[in-house]
Amino acid sequence: MERVASKEEVRQAVLAARREDKRIALVPTMGMLHEGHLSLVRAACGRADYIAVSIFVNPTQFGPGEDFETYPRDLERDMELLRAEGVDLVFTPTPAEMYAGDAHVTVAPGPLGELWEGAVRPGHFAGVCTVVCKLLNIVQPNLAFFGEKDFQQLVIIKRMVRDLDLSVRVESCPIIREPDGLALSSRNAYLSVDERRAATVLYRALRTAETLALGGESGAAVLAEAMRECIADEPLAALDYAAVVDPATLGPIGALDASARAIVAARLGSTRLIDNMQITRGA
Ligand code: PAJ
Repeated sequence: MERVASKEEVRQAVLAARREDKRIALVPTMGMLHEGHLSLVRAACGRADYIAVSIFVNPTQFGPGEDFETYPRDLERDMELLRAEGVDLVFTPTPAEMYAGDAHVTVAPGPLGELWEGAVRPGHFAGVCTVVCKLLNIVQPNLAFFGEKDFQQLVIIKRMVRDLDLSVRVESCPIIREPDGLALSSRNAYLSVDERRAATVLYRALRTAETLALGGESGAAVLAEAMRECIADEPLAALDYAAVVDPATLGPIGALDASARAIVAARLGSTRLIDNMQITRGA
């Protein structure tokens, strides 16, 4: 496994792999890797011959007052985990390597970037789109892997690839959870013991909506209200949003269609957690 910090070294390494006719996969991450990230790496290993992972805590997707400085980092541990998975290349650029001091051109996510996470975190998805577009241009992979954990991010990245004619296939992977249902996240490390216990409320809210839908309830507003009530019952959690939306447009739906997505965001103390689940209507 090779670790490189410059774009030029990435290009050289990937060029050599491509000359050997290898299919290239990229897994973009911000590090502090857990089983969720590793599930993407394993999916990539199953679909490609040369696996590149980027580890870059991207400053442009954090807003003022967010956790860019304190975002957990453990590069040595990350490297060990990736070595064990058989990864070929790890790209660990500095912000200065990624962004010229006078870089001003960015990728605008459009209306999808204003909804939900984008409403709470202005500019977040412009930062995500810009860095993912840059990583795709630097590595030029055949396949790029993203998790459903960040469902809105996944939808926006698929749109970006389509709308800008980027020549990469976006692959999505299911959410990996703790045994009690909490979705794995690097930010779970911020939770106190009590907050960690309370954090399962996001999963419980999603399951409540899922169960109601499977029982025949088709009103999106009814499902969303049930999720809100579930979160309200947990004194340590403060709701940001809970909704059942169209999985392609992330917009409101009236009645449950073939498939819909329940999405939820809540704060546990100063930690913001997000989760989502596919919702299917029962017979
Ligand atoms: P990060 O939060 O490190 O996540 C990297 C990838 O891992 C994302 O595609 C995310 O959806 C996926 N992931 C995280 N937790 C997961 C879980 N529990 N189950 C399945 N997949 C999971 O998302 C980012 O970084 C950044 O925004 C990035 C795309 C790297 C751009 O900076």
